[in-house]
Amino acid sequence: MNEKELCSKAIEAMEKAYAPYSKHKVGAALLTETGRLFTGCNIENAAYSPTVCAERVALFTAVAAGERKFKAIAVAGGKDGIIDGAFPPCGVCRQVMAEFCPPDFKVLVVTGNDSFKKYTLSELLPEAFTPENIE
Ligand code: THU
Repeated sequence: MNEKELCSKAIEAMEKAYAPYSKHKVGAALLTETGRLFTGCNIENAAYSPTVCAERVALFTAVAAGERKFKAIAVAGGKDGIIDGAFPPCGVCRQVMAEFCPPDFKVLVVTGNDSFKKYTLSELLPEAFTPENIE
């Protein structure tokens, strides 16, 4: 799967978002080293704090399926599901990525139906606290 296709999968996953409070729909598409695809969407809650981001839903679903090695993630989001620029991963999701993904893990931030920005995890979370720090 190429980067553009991964971004399309994130846009598709956004449709499943449960976001009645913020109205911001987010989708994520995660590619494993072995080429498997896992998607996620944000799932909000009336009590607010139980809300989970799309990226973590995708990552945790993949880990629960036995995957531990990841290549790239694409993230798409916007108010009412309309993509109008970048919807970058929050700090908590970056930290969860750092648990399982290498510094050169690719993060594709969708900016439009045919455009995206490309980062490495180490660019988005420099000097990350990782499992190595507590060895
Ligand atoms: N959200 C994500 O799904 N991913 C992020 O990285 C940032 C925020 C969700 C959480 C909440 O449902 C909505 O976007 C507004 O913050």
